[in-house]
This record gives sequence, structure tokens and C-alpha cells, in this order.
Amino acid sequence: MNGSVKIKLSEHSREKIDHWLKKFPEDQKQSAILAALLEVQHENNGFLTPEIMDTVADYLGMPNIAVYEVGSFYSMLETTPVGRHSISICTNISCMLKGSDEIVEYTEKKLGIKTGGSTSDGKLFLKTEEECLAACCGGPMMMVDHVYHENLTKEKIDKILDQLD
Ligand code: FES
Repeated sequence: MNGSVKIKLSEHSREKIDHWLKKFPEDQKQSAILAALLEVQHENNGFLTPEIMDTVADYLGMPNIAVYEVGSFYSMLETTPVGRHSISICTNISCMLKGSDEIVEYTEKKLGIKTGGSTSDGKLFLKTEEECLAACCGGPMMMVDHVYHENLTKEKIDKILDQLD
């Protein structure tokens, strides 16, 4: 049994986690950890807290520390408050040759933040410059909330980012 549970999983989160749990043997609940953390992170405006991770640990019957290890290891999981929408721009060689530096500069200026920062309204998180997202033919490209956007131009950046809620 883990320590005190500080929050309650929403019905929606439990349904999503249970969906994944069905894919694994009964005694291998920890196999659903990544899917579970992605789900609760999404519900918590894009980041995890120790209380949320404790709750997931309890739900999956895992030691809290094992959940912290996963939560702090994978790049798609955040353990500090960030903007709701995550933006990662690729600046590796193929994208760089097709103008990614200009795309980064334009996006930072448009949002008024540097890469690694979030907008003050908590909406956008300009997460990182990626080291190739395997969409080199479509460079320059970026990933917004795990969706790829390719052949970026300043106009495309405006259209994509302006429509996010
Ligand atoms: S170099 Fe940008 S996706 Fe590969």
C-alpha cells in the first residue's frame, strides 16, 4: 500500500487507464504506467504533480518512487507547470537547411518567450528544439501536442498556433 492519496482520479481517467489495463496480464498492471501518466497529465493541464503520481501509483499498485522514475524520465511527461499546448520545433540538419532557425526565431518573437518557456496565460509551452522527429522530408516541421506540422512558414505557424484554445 502506498502513502496517502491526495487526489481522486476522474471517472474519465479511470476509464482510460482501465482500457489499457485490459491489455496486460492482471499481475502486470505497471505496464499501463505510461498511458496512465499521459492521461492524467492531459487532465491536469499538461503536467504531473507528486500527488497525481501518488494516486496513479496507488491505482496501479506500484511503489510511488517507481512512478516518479517514469514521470521524470520520459520527455513527453512534465513535472513542473507548463503551458497547456506543447510545441517542439525540429532544428536538426534537414530542418535547419530548410529554415528552422528562422521558424524558431519567429515563434519565440510571436509568443514573447524563449524556447523552454510558457506564455503567461498558461496556454502555450515552447518546449524544446527537437533533434529530428523523423519527418525530414517535410522540414521545417514542428510537433504540437504530438501532432506533426510540416513545411512550415510564418503564415502556417500563425494559423496553427492562433487556433489553439
Ligand atoms: S531533421 Fe527535422 S525531422 Fe528530421
